[in-house]
Amino acid sequence: MTKVYHLNLEKKQIQKARLALMPGDPFRVPKIAEEIRNIYGGEIQPLAWKREYQTYLCQFDAHKLLVTSTGIGGPSTSIAIEELALLGVDTFLRVGTTGAIQKQVEIGDVIITSGSVRLDGASTHYAPIQYPALAHHEVVNALVEAARSQKIPYHVGVTASADTFYPGQERYDSYTGYVIRDFQGSLQEWQKLGVLNYEMETAAMFTMAGVMGLRAGCVAGVIVNRAGRENITAADLQLGEHNAVRAAAAAVDLLLKAGKTSKKAKKAE
Ligand code: URA
Repeated sequence: MTKVYHLNLEKKQIQKARLALMPGDPFRVPKIAEEIRNIYGGEIQPLAWKREYQTYLCQFDAHKLLVTSTGIGGPSTSIAIEELALLGVDTFLRVGTTGAIQKQVEIGDVIITSGSVRLDGASTHYAPIQYPALAHHEVVNALVEAARSQKIPYHVGVTASADTFYPGQERYDSYTGYVIRDFQGSLQEWQKLGVLNYEMETAAMFTMAGVMGLRAGCVAGVIVNRAGRENITAADLQLGEHNAVRAAAAAVDLLLKAGKTSKKAKKAE
């Protein structure tokens, strides 16, 4: 097999890894790989970096996993999922940051998404909008157990996954300060409907994994609470990122044990 185009990776490089941890930011990839090595030992190796997609291979005991960045939003995430699936990956764990919208959620807490409101476009290229964007129960369970074991405060529930950071998340601190009518009042409506937070990738990731018969989940560290204020400080970003990475790293062991569930992966065994 030649290299997949955007990730610039070929099958033999990933050495049959089936689990990928997926931050948005390519610069977070080595940090996550180092956290995996600190916890589990073994070795880490940079494999490729093209555009927003950086990939590291982590190996410990007989296990292998990847850390691959998605870039921001559904379109770039869809490419990463598509190309990793082509290479044989069957479990996708997004490790992100997020803006909470419920008062009880604190900065540094993590949100484990059970399902996402599809406020994006990319996911509609894979399934009609009525199709639910759901996390896989094994990934959700592993993340809950991991957050508990690390004593990280966590919340499980529904996420609004938007294509845009500004209007789609009803932010008025933009260039025009204008939010189109469709999104005016949307933040309050999601609050009333019990949605926990905003982020930008799970709609595409979960919809794709669902229709492909693969596993996906997301743990996101809270870096701002929109029920309070709008600005994101460096300290809040660091805390949110750190706790999401800790929870994801602790979930790795459980996910590797829970095995693979995809039809394709089962057939390949
Ligand atoms: N990521 C988002 O998409 N929204 C936020 O408010 C914070 C992080």
